[in-house]
Amino acid sequence: MASTSRMQAEAAHQNQVICGFRLQAEEFETSMPSDVVAIYPGSFDPLTNGHVDIIQRGSRLFDRIIVGVLLNLEKSPLFTVPERVAIARDVFKPWHNVEVDTFDGLLVDFAHKKHATVIVRGLRAVSDFEFELQMALMNRRLRPEVETVFMMPAEPYTYVSSRLVKEVVALGGSVHGLVPDVVEGRLREKKLARETLRA
Ligand code: PNS
Repeated sequence: MASTSRMQAEAAHQNQVICGFRLQAEEFETSMPSDVVAIYPGSFDPLTNGHVDIIQRGSRLFDRIIVGVLLNLEKSPLFTVPERVAIARDVFKPWHNVEVDTFDGLLVDFAHKKHATVIVRGLRAVSDFEFELQMALMNRRLRPEVETVFMMPAEPYTYVSSRLVKEVVALGGSVHGLVPDVVEGRLREKKLARETLRA
């Protein structure tokens, strides 16, 4: 008799646990947005094949991914923001779920405005990690509902950065294969224009 009531009590407890879990799962499901929108923010001066690789991966994971070009007034960029936006729109035209937009102010506020719940950042090497961790945690503090997701680019792009691309081009080297063809062409034009100005 005693063992029967213990079994009944255990069964009731188990049922409670399962029901509790089911309730949590249901709450979780109802709080999940139907479309997962991600922001891929950056300066993109210029866009590299590393960026393109991350977008390609992100476009398979998220319903929509928005390339957010930072309107940064502090830096002296090689490409203007409208040029960078035009290049990105041209490159990402084949992906139906990739958009390009600009933002200023806080990244998390841009994410909120766009109903995005994810920020995508590329991680190339351990050296990227420290700064990225700080940004991710600061962004989480500002808006806990926005999650940062780190993605690794394909190996051939792990050393590619916009800064190095600009330096190599300025010094007469080739960046073929490291940037989209349209970027390579625009870099050549910029270099020629600068050399003509100096002559
Ligand atoms: O391509 P970058 O330069 O590495 O991109 C940096 C970027 C745009 C992601 C970062 O500077 C940014 O988020 N700027 C927006 C301002 C902001 O939200 N600052 C607080 C972040 S912790």
